[in-house]
Amino acid sequence: MRVLVTGGCGFIGSNFIRLLLQEHAEDEVLNLDKLTYAGNPENLKDVEDDPRYNFMKGDICDARDVEEAFSWGPEAVVNFAAETHVDRSITSPEDFIRTDVLGTYRILEEARKEGVRLLHISTDEVYGSIESGSFSEDSPLMPNSPYSASKAAADLLVRAYVRTYGLEALIVRSSNNYGPYQYPEKVIPLFVTNLLEGRKVPLYGEGKNVRDWLYVEDNCRAIDLVLRSGSPGQIYNVGGGEERTNLELTRAILEIMGAGEESVERVPDRPGHDLRYSVDTRKVRGLGWSPRYDFETGLRKTVAWYREHTEWWKPIKSGEFRRYYVEKYGDI
Ligand code: NAD
Ligand code: DAU
Repeated sequence: MRVLVTGGCGFIGSNFIRLLLQEHAEDEVLNLDKLTYAGNPENLKDVEDDPRYNFMKGDICDARDVEEAFSWGPEAVVNFAAETHVDRSITSPEDFIRTDVLGTYRILEEARKEGVRLLHISTDEVYGSIESGSFSEDSPLMPNSPYSASKAAADLLVRAYVRTYGLEALIVRSSNNYGPYQYPEKVIPLFVTNLLEGRKVPLYGEGKNVRDWLYVEDNCRAIDLVLRSGSPGQIYNVGGGEERTNLELTRAILEIMGAGEESVERVPDRPGHDLRYSVDTRKVRGLGWSPRYDFETGLRKTVAWYREHTEWWKPIKSGEFRRYYVEKYGDI
C-alpha cells in the first residue's frame, strides 16, 4: 500500500512509519511534516535511506502542500500532524486551532477530491474527564482544554465528511502513549531525562490525576490494524488498560532510576486539569488487537532507551526546549 503519513517526524508518527516499513515489505510511505519544534528528522534517521521512504517538508494547513503530497498517489492517508501538548495549548491556543482544525479540514478536502481512505488520529481527551467507568466510542465529546477542543472539532469534521460526502474515513482515539522518541515536554520523558541530568521532577498539584498508559509500539500496531481492517466511518478507542495516578507513575520512575522522593518538586496544578481518562477498548480488541507490553516492562524499556540515547535528547533539552522549560518551571 502507498501510505501518506502526516506528522511522521513526531513521536507516534515516526514509530508508526518504522513499524509500517518493518511489517509490510510492499508498502511505501510519504511523510508530510512541517518540522515544528516537535518534528525531528533524527527520529527516522535509520529509515531515511530506505527507497520505500519519502519525505516532504510541508504544512497540512497549506492547500498547495497538501495537494502536492496527494499527487504522489496515496491509497491511504494517516493524519498524525497536530499540535499536541496540553500545557502549550493553554498559553498559546491559536496554533492548535490552526493545525488541528484547519489542517484536518485541508486533509479531508483533498482525501474527498481524490477518493483516498483516511485514518484520522485523535485522542481519548476528546471525551473529557471521567471519575469512574470508561468512555465508549458513542460517549459525548466534552473536551476541557484548547488542545482537546481542537481535536474534538477535527473529529466532528471527519464525521461530517463521512456522512455528507461518503468519505471512507476512520478515527482512532488513544490514551497516553509513551516510549522512544517522545519530546521531553511530556511527563515520562521529562521526568526520566530530568533525573538523568540530576534535576528534580515537577509534579503538578497532588499527583492524583489518572492516565492510562499505552506503549507506543502497541498503539502503532492498533493503528496499522484499523487502517487495514477497520470499517469505514467507525471510531476505535485504544488504551493500555494501565491506569496510574501521576504519583504512582512518578514513584515507578524513581524506583527504576534509583532516585528518592527528595527528587520530586510539587508545582502548581495545570488549569482545568482533567482528573482521569479511561476508554473502553472492546471494539478494537474485536479486530484482534491487544497490547503486548505491560506498564512495568514498557516503562523499563523506555527508561533504558533514554539512558542509551542521550545524543537524541540532550540537543533538544538545550535548544528550544530550554527557554520553554525555564519560563514554565524556573530552575527545577
Ligand atoms: P508530536 O507533537 O510528537 O508530533 C507532531 C508532529 O506533527 C511533528 O512532527 C510536527 O512537526 C508535525 N506537525 C505539526 N504541525 C504540522 C503542520 N501544520 N503540518 C505538518 N506537520 C505538522 O505528536 P505525537 O505525540 O506523536 O501525536 C501524534 C498524534 O497523536 C496527534 O494527532 C495527537 O493528537 C495524537 N495523540 C497523541 C497521544 C500521545 O500520548 N502522544 C495520545 C493520543 C493521541
Ligand atoms: O490522553 C492522550 C493525550 O496524552 C494526548 O492526546 C496528548 O497529546 C498528550 O500530550 C497527553 O496529554 P496529557 O496532558 O495527559 O500528557 P502530559 O504528559 O502533558 O501529562 C500527563 C500527566 O502528568 C498529566 O496529568 C499532567 C502531569 N504532569 C505533566 C507534566 C508535563 C505533571 O505532573 N508534571 C509535568 O511537568
